[in-house]
Amino acid sequence: MAVTRTFSIIKPDATRRNLTGAVTKMLEDAGLRVVASKRIRMSREQAEGFYAVHKERPFFGELCEFMTSGPVVVQVLEGEDAVKRNRDVMGATNPANAEPGTIRKELAESIEANTVHGSDSDENAKIEIAFFFSPGEIVG
Ligand code: CMP
Repeated sequence: MAVTRTFSIIKPDATRRNLTGAVTKMLEDAGLRVVASKRIRMSREQAEGFYAVHKERPFFGELCEFMTSGPVVVQVLEGEDAVKRNRDVMGATNPANAEPGTIRKELAESIEANTVHGSDSDENAKIEIAFFFSPGEIVG
């Protein structure tokens, strides 16, 4: 299995509850390594750009509002089959449907305040990583 990278966001509901470490531990325990990390307050422009694929969805405005409501931690994660590994440990988008032991089942508040984002493909991981990080900020 190839070692690959994925992009993760620890969302405002988690930073508000001081869960940055708890989330990161679950990622690390799942075999992922944090090779870049920074705590930022996303601008409205960044949130709208990052989630542009969802701009026609009814929840787009609220999603951007939520993602700019507090600090987030953007991370690059590395590991074997990182995109799938991260999605497995995150659990389903809606915590009500997530498996026990996953981040969203254990920690998320709602489908919107769902604690973490993770890339859904290797192709999108590359795009999302480049949205927030320059190559020199990633140290594997
Ligand atoms: P994320 O993986 O960050 O990608 C898009 C986000 O939109 C998703 O996680 C959820 O937080 C949010 N989302 C998806 N569906 C809904 C919904 N029906 N209502 C509110 N937010 C949603």
